[in-house]
Amino acid sequence: MRTQVAIVGAGPSGLLLSHLLAADGIESVVLETRSEEYVASRIRAGILEQSTVDLLRAAGLADRLDREADPHRGIHLQWPHERHHLDFVELAGRQVFVYGQTELQKDLVAAAHARGQDVVYEIDDTALHDLETDRPSVTFTDSGGTARRLEAEVVVGCDGSFGPSRTAVPADVRRTWERTYDYSWLGILADVAPSTDELIYAWHPDGFALHSMRSATVSRFYLQVPNDTPVEEWSEDRIWEGLATRLGHGQDGWELTTGPITDRSVLPMRSHVSQPMRHGRLFLAGDAAHIVPPTGAKGLNLAVADVALLAPALTALLRGDHARADAYSDTALRRVWRCTHFSWWMTTMLHTSPDPFDRQLQLSQLRWVTSSEAGATGLAENYAGLPIGF
Ligand code: FAD
Ligand code: DHB
Repeated sequence: MRTQVAIVGAGPSGLLLSHLLAADGIESVVLETRSEEYVASRIRAGILEQSTVDLLRAAGLADRLDREADPHRGIHLQWPHERHHLDFVELAGRQVFVYGQTELQKDLVAAAHARGQDVVYEIDDTALHDLETDRPSVTFTDSGGTARRLEAEVVVGCDGSFGPSRTAVPADVRRTWERTYDYSWLGILADVAPSTDELIYAWHPDGFALHSMRSATVSRFYLQVPNDTPVEEWSEDRIWEGLATRLGHGQDGWELTTGPITDRSVLPMRSHVSQPMRHGRLFLAGDAAHIVPPTGAKGLNLAVADVALLAPALTALLRGDHARADAYSDTALRRVWRCTHFSWWMTTMLHTSPDPFDRQLQLSQLRWVTSSEAGATGLAENYAGLPIGF
């Protein structure tokens, strides 16, 4: 097989890249280990930044999003006996949108079908070759068991944190930074109307809790739990009691409504940055190059921001102009490090630490971002998203 751009991974970054390249007249083939249905049903991100939505609109991918997404002006930040709303529109002139990654993935899949995009699902044995030449290739075994080779002018690793692309950058060139955290999230999906108009991020001595949502009838919650917590340790009753306590059921008349839980899982968290994001004819985008802890909802938005830079850079490269492709890694990493800092900061401000000194610092920081316009604006600007190319 031959194409201009071989894309490894059909998650949001891979499919969005193929869409933007097609709009510029650049041909690509996308390779994916999982099935189309599996990728579209993974419950992950829920919040899109203003710049992500602007890009999806400009790319003609936002028809359903514009009908169904729930625009939010800001978030609630709380700790025992206090709840404060931060209005991002007033503070930073930008808003965010509740739209599940599952929905965005379905829109990207529908657009890929509509333009006849070549996506090869359920492959195995993905391996990248000749990345330092102008004729790189990807070999794999297709779902029928046949060994195949895809030759290309460029290979893009959009294969998430466990794919082979990141480690295809030679160890003597690659530099990585990593931070692990002492806690995980128990994520819960429930068939119940949200008990709040906008998301609630709650600091509590028992641990952090987040009340998010997916629609008018489906709520999403997260609870801070110790690493390696078996999911069976949390019965439905324990989950609802934990959420009620941490989210402040009864505080100033606020009530948490409960309902049937349809999904629950424990999610570890880490920060990871791998650079450079380009080596020879290999480019990395999204989780293949960087992971952030989920507090602050940056992962998916960062993947979209990478692809927004990469698509025009590759189009220019394939037409003989190397400047944007040469600048891609440094340009993308500026935003990556900003989001890495913001996600680390939100995470360490909100997740309860056993250290009493840390707790006082956290509460002081929460009081500052909810009472000082300067503090609130910094949070709003980062949460609602800096412009692409920041
Ligand atoms: P992925 O979505 O991981 O896609 C990579 C694809 O590559 C996968 O489909 C994988 O199967 C495929 N692949 C892997 N190996 C190979 C191989 N060898 N060959 C071919 N294909 C391969 N982000 C936010 O912005 N907001 C949020 O609210 C948010 N919440 C989250 C909540 C949870 C519970 C989780 C887990 C994540 C959350 N994130 C959030 C992060 C977000 O989901 C990711 O950042 C996003 O999925 C990254 O997209 P991607 O396309 O780069 O990678
Ligand atoms: C969701 C996840 C997040 O990490 C976050 O900060 C906000 C919302 C969610 O899945 O809805």
